[in-house]
Amino acid sequence: MGNMFDDLIGQRSIFKNKKFLDHKFLPERLPHRKDQIKSIAKYWIEALNNNAPSDITIYGKTGTGKTAAAKFAMKQLKEASGNKDVYIRTEYIRCTDYTTEYQVIARLCQQMGREVPYRGWTKAEVLNTFRNIFKKNAFGQNMILIVVLDEIDILLKKDGDGILYTLTRTDNVSILSISNYVDFKKFITPRVLSSLRDREIVFPPYNAQQLIDILEERANLSFNDDVVDDDVIPLCSAMAAKEEGDARYALDLLRTSGEIADENEENVVKGTHVRHAKDRIEHNMVTDVIMTLPAQQQRVLEAILKLTNSNEEITSGKLYDAYKVVSKGDSVSYRRIFDFINELEMLGIISTNTISRGRGKGRTNIISLQCDTGLLEDTLYTAM
Ligand SMILES: Nc1ncnc2c1ncn2[C@@H]1O[C@H](COP(=O)(O)OP(=O)(O)O)[C@@H](O)[C@H]1O
Ligand SMILES: [Mg+2]
Repeated sequence: MGNMFDDLIGQRSIFKNKKFLDHKFLPERLPHRKDQIKSIAKYWIEALNNNAPSDITIYGKTGTGKTAAAKFAMKQLKEASGNKDVYIRTEYIRCTDYTTEYQVIARLCQQMGREVPYRGWTKAEVLNTFRNIFKKNAFGQNMILIVVLDEIDILLKKDGDGILYTLTRTDNVSILSISNYVDFKKFITPRVLSSLRDREIVFPPYNAQQLIDILEERANLSFNDDVVDDDVIPLCSAMAAKEEGDARYALDLLRTSGEIADENEENVVKGTHVRHAKDRIEHNMVTDVIMTLPAQQQRVLEAILKLTNSNEEITSGKLYDAYKVVSKGDSVSYRRIFDFINELEMLGIISTNTISRGRGKGRTNIISLQCDTGLLEDTLYTAM
């Protein structure tokens, strides 16, 4: 037998370079985001005049180009400041990686060359180090620091608004917050809200035509010439437009369609590959979510599956009884089950519907499964 890599090395691919379809790739142009990027620039230009810009908040659903636009603006500002007599720093923080005020400030200090450990110091020590950076700097100039806090709702939910309190009260710091949720400000207390006088920029979902424009540019970079059927990009775009105008999903569909065509050793990507790709992506998403659930949650899901398979109407009472059977005595309280139901609903695996039983009989929550039962079965019984 030859080396197993030999076959693969010689294999032809319809991709020229797949990296251009990667989420992390930052394109040179962002079609249909000109207005939003211009708005950021309109505020950030103050930095080139040596003033800290207004704080900015960006809102928009997943995949509407928020992260890409912010990074694009950072890059352009860096270029523009190169030949000016100003000292501007832009720092990007993903709040899914740095989830507390301490971690964010420590990260900022480290990025600016200060040795701060991620644990062990008191918060006051870290804050002092941070503030000192602004007192003396090697350039003898005022430094202006622009901090981009991406997915800020995660940090606010977990650790409160201390980070915004600290940053809004440090001179020469300007914040660009990015949130997937319009109502994230409910996590900010009035005392902080009053010093965060932010300008808001909304990123609307892309429509199907806009997604076509975005995908065409990326497809030209990543696929060989004439290997994508005419209906492929419109189909990916239409499907993603239905999923709330998510460009990330559109890119995933296009990349996965190409991968499936490659696997089947076909020379052209076709509409059938796109439909296939849709199933595969859904499958992977559900599997990922379920595999990472805590064991008790998985048992609740198993109970829902059993009830669904026997065509029962699932009330929380019935669910709890079924769950107790599944968990064989090692079960959580009835009240905890409500938290689990809420979490599963937020993940989109189930939905709940309140129905009225008629006069004097009150209202009941009915739970229904939102994913394929076969898929759930496969996943649950391999996960456990
Ligand atoms: N206008 C656009 N032009 C080209 N690519 C885009 C555009 N908007 C989004 N993308 C791409 O779609 C993906 C998701 O965008 P991203 O900025 O991460 O969305 P968000 O941060 O709003 O969830 C990224 O790969 C990004 O490069
Ligand atoms: Mg983002």
